[in-house]
Amino acid sequence: MEKDLLQSRKDLLMKHKVPAHIAVIMDGNGRWAKKRSLSRIDGHSAGIDTVRRIVRLAGEMGIGYLSLYTFSSENWNRPMGEVMGIMKLLAETVKKEVPELNKNNVRLKTIGDISGLPRKSRSALIDAIELTASNEGLTLILALNYSGRDEILRAVRTIAERIENDTLNSDEITPEVIESSLDTAGMPDPDLLIRTSGEYRLSNYLLWQLAYTELWITDIMWPDFSESDFLDALESYSGRERRFGMTSQQITTVSGVVKKYLFKGEKT
Ligand code: IPE
Ligand code: IPE
Ligand code: MG
Repeated sequence: MEKDLLQSRKDLLMKHKVPAHIAVIMDGNGRWAKKRSLSRIDGHSAGIDTVRRIVRLAGEMGIGYLSLYTFSSENWNRPMGEVMGIMKLLAETVKKEVPELNKNNVRLKTIGDISGLPRKSRSALIDAIELTASNEGLTLILALNYSGRDEILRAVRTIAERIENDTLNSDEITPEVIESSLDTAGMPDPDLLIRTSGEYRLSNYLLWQLAYTELWITDIMWPDFSESDFLDALESYSGRERRFGMTSQQITTVSGVVKKYLFKGEKT
């Protein structure tokens, strides 16, 4: 019964607006574990089960990009045991999940500076990225050793080097040049940002790319986040009017061409 309901909500959503890119701040693993007298690492393990469910559903729904905030640059400041536990889980999970990713036609990518990750985690990621590179369904992006400010800083350095090499003039720096220097080059900006565990902040995630993203925040902890919660977020999104600084009237009367530009990549 519940399954039928999920299916019909899914079908209905897919007939209307499906975001091209959904970004997620997966938060609350630690609090979920604490409430159950489990270790924080048990919380992260439980969070991986949620990732599996949501990746499958996003793929089935034809969502183009799903970017998951997995480990921030600031998370290195956590106790060493937790950091190492997360890195171990990451290496094991990425390795184990490759067949499932291939079965579901999911292409894996990362954003963030993965050169800063321990060798085993980094090599598992590089292998999985290569082994899934030709998949054409969902692109799953894991943000690892990621911070929005660090990403912008690295992009500024890349642009400065081009100016030093005389391959770019300063008056040629456009938003497109900046975008193509970010880790997310070639990906559409997120249409929707989901954050779990009830925190109302961005925590240094995708600072450039979230400029006009719709936000959806829930008190649910990430390990408890279900398919039905994901559909709640999509239903909320589908009922919103994105105005991009314009008036409501302009939005309802703009031509198809303008709409296509504004809602880049989104399936309408
Ligand atoms: C999110 O859950 C996972 C990571 C940041 C790696 P948390 O570990 O932040 O969980 P809380 O916020 O402490 O509950
Ligand atoms: C954001 O969660 C980072 C990830 C989900 C990987 P945090 O738990 O680190 O965020 P803050 O510290 O509460 O802002
Ligand atoms: Mg947290």
